[in-house]
Amino acid sequence: TPRCILLALLLLKATSFVCLLQGWVRSARAQKVNVFLHVNDGSSLQSLQVVAGAELNDPLLTFGSAVEVSGILQESPHEKQPLELQADSIRVIGECDPVDFPFKVKKRHGLEYIRQFPHLRCRTNAFSSLLRIRSEATSAIHSYFKDNGFVQIHTPIITSNDCEGAGELFQVEPAGADEHFFSVPAFLTVSGQLHLEATAGAFSKVYTFGPTFRAENSQSRRHLAEFYMVEAEISFTQSMEDLTKVMEDMFRSATEHVLARCVEDVDLFHRHVTPGHRVNSMLKKSFPVITYTEAVDILTRSSEQFAFPSDWGCDLKTEHEKYLVKHCGNVPVFVTDYPYDLKPFYARDNQDGPRHTAAAVDLLVPGVGELCGGSLREERLSVLRARLEQYLDLRRFGSAPHGGFGLGFERYLQCLLGVDNIKDVIPFPRFSRSCLL
Ligand code: 4AD
Ligand code: MG
Repeated sequence: TPRCILLALLLLKATSFVCLLQGWVRSARAQKVNVFLHVNDGSSLQSLQVVAGAELNDPLLTFGSAVEVSGILQESPHEKQPLELQADSIRVIGECDPVDFPFKVKKRHGLEYIRQFPHLRCRTNAFSSLLRIRSEATSAIHSYFKDNGFVQIHTPIITSNDCEGAGELFQVEPAGADEHFFSVPAFLTVSGQLHLEATAGAFSKVYTFGPTFRAENSQSRRHLAEFYMVEAEISFTQSMEDLTKVMEDMFRSATEHVLARCVEDVDLFHRHVTPGHRVNSMLKKSFPVITYTEAVDILTRSSEQFAFPSDWGCDLKTEHEKYLVKHCGNVPVFVTDYPYDLKPFYARDNQDGPRHTAAAVDLLVPGVGELCGGSLREERLSVLRARLEQYLDLRRFGSAPHGGFGLGFERYLQCLLGVDNIKDVIPFPRFSRSCLL
């Protein structure tokens, strides 16, 4: 970064460095005596100013062209930038026709416009900032788990289970095969949970962070066919609080890390892309916890506002989730103890009644709705007897109370940056009727 280079100059008592810069032209301005370029190499939002004699000017130095510049990196006499590169040579490596290039110099293109160019959109400020933030958020999540004693497990992508039981599976077979490659039907994973449960039985605290696939036939702003999920599984849980604490701590830790490490990139979103959105306002107090039954009471008082029913026993729709978030002060909110019949087989039976619930929890966040889904797992063999044979084995041999959750990483980025459409927070989105590139 420019600050590191300035520090290095200071420490070495030097005034300049010989430097080779490779990147893409962001602006080019020719004057009588000098040519001024701004070149960006993708490592940060900042471009480096290149100053060259007019003899180095080249009509191919257009917005978007790839260049290699060598020269002397030195402190800049201008206040606007700390450093500039006095060029000895400039080579255009790859031309860029400014007429055909879909992005124009000094123009701010909206996320919707740049979404039409999945192969080129990382060349815009907004999307390159977003992908740097995405990369930093990935590191932050891994750091959180490492720092808190979790073991990372590479759960398989190809599996024979439908963990969620929702039937949204993509089947995997070799092209043209007329029998099952694995002897049984195999699918792209919808969740690594069952593999995490198996390994949590040995390591106590495990997590996985990888691609997950769901054949969701929807064009919604918060569903993809391929998305990244962070999943954690914790053994020896005493109560739901053991889960909600990890979910909240992880959210806070990742968010604080990104805000501290991606100052310029986040600032670009705050100023130009999603003005008015501030994730820090979500971190001021601890996340409220309400039960599903309390949530339904809140919704019933305003039922005329909703398109879908909000009676006890109905699944919460996005409109309900967003309303609950607003009702709780526009902060993330945990909803616990959902109707037993709404949750998959693995959720722990609260054995209550007459409104029968399971020890399941969702974390709802502003602008998005459901960010995480989790539960205490049914660890009692007798309650599970009619279920999966291997799953029962996990209960037969050293079963301990445990629970876990999954966080949709793209939805986390939507919440972090205030991005409305999930297709704008993943490099190459896959959704129904779209698998470009
Ligand atoms: O709530 P879900 O379906 O929970 C599970 O899969 C559990 N087995 C996780 C666990 O306990 N280990 O999915 C978890 C999260 C959701 O809360 C949501 O944020 C995200 O994954 N998600 C999606 N994100 C984008 N596109 C989709 N189609 C998604 N489906 C779920
Ligand atoms: Mg869910």
